[in-house]
Amino acid sequence: MCGIFAYLNYLTPKTRREVLDLLVNGLKRLEYRGYDSTGVAIDSTDGKDIVLIKSSGKVKILEDAISEKFAIDNKIDEPTLIHCGISHTRWATHGVPSEINSHPQRSGSDNAFVVVHNGIITNYKDVKTFLENHGYSFESDTDTEVIAKLVHHIWKAHPKYSFRELVEQVIQQLEGAFALAFKSKHFPGECVASRRGSPLLVGIKTKTRLATDHIPILYGKEHRPHGTNGRDMPVIPRSESTSEFMPVDDKEVEYFFASDASAVIEHTNRVIYLEDDDVAAVNKDGALSIHRLRKCTDDPHAREITTLKMEIQQIMKGNYDYFMQKEIFEQPESVINTMRGRLNFENGTVTLGGIKDYIPEIKRCRRLMLIGCGTSYHSAVATRQLLEELTELPVMVELASDFLDRNTPIFRDDVCFFISQSGETADTLMALRYCKQRGALIVGITNTVGSSICRESHCGVHINAGPEIGVASTKAYTSQFISLVMFGLVMSEDRISLQQRRQEIINGLKNLDKQIRKVLELDNKVLELANDLYQHKSLLIMGRGYNFATCLEGALKVKELTYMHSEGIMAGELKHGPLALVDHSMPVLMIILRDPVYAKCMNALQQVTAREGRPIIICEEGDEDTKSYSSRALEIPKTVDCLQGVLTVIPMQLLSYHIAVLRGCDVDCPRNLAKSVTVE
Ligand code: F6R
Repeated sequence: MCGIFAYLNYLTPKTRREVLDLLVNGLKRLEYRGYDSTGVAIDSTDGKDIVLIKSSGKVKILEDAISEKFAIDNKIDEPTLIHCGISHTRWATHGVPSEINSHPQRSGSDNAFVVVHNGIITNYKDVKTFLENHGYSFESDTDTEVIAKLVHHIWKAHPKYSFRELVEQVIQQLEGAFALAFKSKHFPGECVASRRGSPLLVGIKTKTRLATDHIPILYGKEHRPHGTNGRDMPVIPRSESTSEFMPVDDKEVEYFFASDASAVIEHTNRVIYLEDDDVAAVNKDGALSIHRLRKCTDDPHAREITTLKMEIQQIMKGNYDYFMQKEIFEQPESVINTMRGRLNFENGTVTLGGIKDYIPEIKRCRRLMLIGCGTSYHSAVATRQLLEELTELPVMVELASDFLDRNTPIFRDDVCFFISQSGETADTLMALRYCKQRGALIVGITNTVGSSICRESHCGVHINAGPEIGVASTKAYTSQFISLVMFGLVMSEDRISLQQRRQEIINGLKNLDKQIRKVLELDNKVLELANDLYQHKSLLIMGRGYNFATCLEGALKVKELTYMHSEGIMAGELKHGPLALVDHSMPVLMIILRDPVYAKCMNALQQVTAREGRPIIICEEGDEDTKSYSSRALEIPKTVDCLQGVLTVIPMQLLSYHIAVLRGCDVDCPRNLAKSVTVE
């Protein structure tokens, strides 16, 4: 959801064209997060002004606007030694997608200060009123514009302040969530960035090794009462800035500020993940420093420079038409990566390094709570039954938004799992903080190393599915599923009565990658079904027991990708309402496997066929009896009951993918949706 990419070259000559290419390329890497408009800011070719180029629509449209803008400006190919450019993909929250509402937003018609912003400023109306009373007029409908104007206002009052100090003043006045990157014509070649609640990292590229793996944090000396919703501007203490970071032997350095690592990995693998209220500033000498206004007792002295393990190929489409397609087909490998180094098939042991030390505490807990949104929530639904069985604890599954709405009671002896691919979902993060405040043990299950959920959890499991770029979650779901199964296996390691069950699950996990490959071979058959279905208005997906989660997840995939109505129906609930929807024309898909609820599923099938329903059936390989109830069936390999959901969800992923392509939908970026939902 929204993407920031800023680039600063210090003593590393680049032409404006190269800088623009870099910025546009950075935005392309962030496209998957979801957006509806774009923009860039660079220095004008005479170096006196800042040029803004913005457009609604895709990055490609921005690229065309840039080419047009500089079509006859030869200076665009002259190198600059030092330069800062900022860029943005916007996902509209305040004001429609339009050129004027796109970021960068500016302080005034002279573009003195420009800013890109992810998140929502909740007190922007107060700040706006304050600024209007001081003579500022506004051109956009965005909350972000107040930030650009506020920094200008403070600069007028404190012309001696450094760029970083101005930004420190600004963020004191802001409420809500933000990641910000600023550029100013009064501070050429400098960039200041900050975050609170929205992710932001700084990538560092130098020719020689860095002198340090840590950047010291510089704290303010004192502090005065907090901001006043724009009615009055407090003077904020200036923090000391003595020991700033510089690269070792030479001063040549490039900096990248980005919402996530996929935008910087092709340039550098050395990054610093900023924390809430960090202000990262690159000054006119090319030095990066990190500041905080106040020091709390447990605050660290430095931010670590981490080395990304990601490879550039992981974020490229390769031979696939869409990222989603690639990610569906990656699942034989991604599930193996989730288990790698953790599950020993020889001796049946499972080691989850990230939670190992907490297992005794978890075993003593009162209940387990699994909390997430969307697909991540479905992975909790999918594994709940097994976790109840293997842990012998009550297991609650919760949608993060609803959990917060209810002010759910949480106790010190609760263990709360927060499941999130991105690790940045606002509702999930809020729920995490809510539970942490109440003393529960927090376990993060995430795919994104360094994400907020990851950092704010007491312990956790990285699902290691690799970068997921398609907005619709696919491989993350199966890896979350397996991570939770492995957690169940750890919890039951010393339960004699569960040894046989554990062994059958471990055997199932061992074969899973081969079985996923077999399911993927159904692709052409699924395409045929998609051809039958894509012009329909609705699709009902029914199942129960271990496969109910597949119904929910399948319906979510169909909705989000194809814009068709779809509903996941618990087959046991048919007679309580949904059966009224069934007739000869309503598309129905039923999941019926030879598991403990087989007889009940067959009962549901008969209810559907008795109403002239003609369901498509997903059944077990060779189950001729079940297959005989329908002319259209997909057969999947047999596995242990609790792992079936990993296999049954794949035809649903493929089906939604093919229907989306047939309906001409944007598979990787469905309308109105974002990959990382960083606002509530
Ligand atoms: C659906 C989908 C969403 C996410 C949800 C939570 O395909 O991707 O429903 O699952 O927005 O996102 P994370 O897992 O990043 O917390």
